[in-house]
Amino acid sequence: MIVLIGGEKGGTGKTTLATNLSALRAKLSGHNNVLLIDTDPQGSSADWTYYRREAGLNGVECIQLFGKHIVSEIDTKAERYDDIIIDAGGRDSQEIRYAMTIADVMIVPVGASQYDVNTIANIDDLLNQVQPMNPDLVCYAVVNNFPNHARLTEGADAIEFLKQFENVKPLDFIIHERISINRTSKGYGINESEDLFGQADPRAEDEILKLYKAIYE
Ligand SMILES: Nc1ncnc2c1ncn2[C@@H]1O[C@H](COP(=O)(O)OP(=O)(O)OP(=O)(O)O)[C@@H](O)[C@H]1O
Ligand SMILES: [Mg+2]
Repeated sequence: MIVLIGGEKGGTGKTTLATNLSALRAKLSGHNNVLLIDTDPQGSSADWTYYRREAGLNGVECIQLFGKHIVSEIDTKAERYDDIIIDAGGRDSQEIRYAMTIADVMIVPVGASQYDVNTIANIDDLLNQVQPMNPDLVCYAVVNNFPNHARLTEGADAIEFLKQFENVKPLDFIIHERISINRTSKGYGINESEDLFGQADPRAEDEILKLYKAIYE
């Protein structure tokens, strides 16, 4: 299965979700054989995988791919890896358009502000353009990095707003801003933090697991 994490806006959590999903997929699939593809010149997913290897963790390999050859490269890799997760950088890049032609599921992390949710209109248009080439692609938006205060309603409001789009469907849960999720940038997944540090964050794990289930189940 090819999962694409993308979106036009920078800093919404694409790398954070792509890396966390990779670690969780490596474990829950039982095959420990995930290929993470970083198409962002910033190389954050590649950095994550480097830290991961240094820490002695396995199950996820990473390659960086750019430009128009990514489709043929990914086709070749798909023969060797059961699971591919693509971290496409922020902005409407050539890479995200190519990746959309071959992905099975696309996840667009989005902040709850009006500026953020407005960017989904362009993704919805892009999906219309890609539809003839990849009619089976499903696309979900997920509100991410939202402050964890019970009384705030903006997260739920954002989900409501996102229901108007034709192709992009909002997931009905929020991934909150959590320091435990932020720390996974050191090269691990939230599902691995208890084994590594003896410190779990069950609520954060549950949110990442919900995203996992929306994709793989
Ligand atoms: N749910 C979360 N809780 C806490 N911190 C988060 C969460 N999601 C993302 N972050 C933090 O927000 C920042 C931006 O996240 P990230 O780098 O994953 O975004 P991105 O969409 O990949 O950015 P870019 O567009 O630059 O590639 C990082 O510091 C990351 O640790
Ligand atoms: Mg990134």
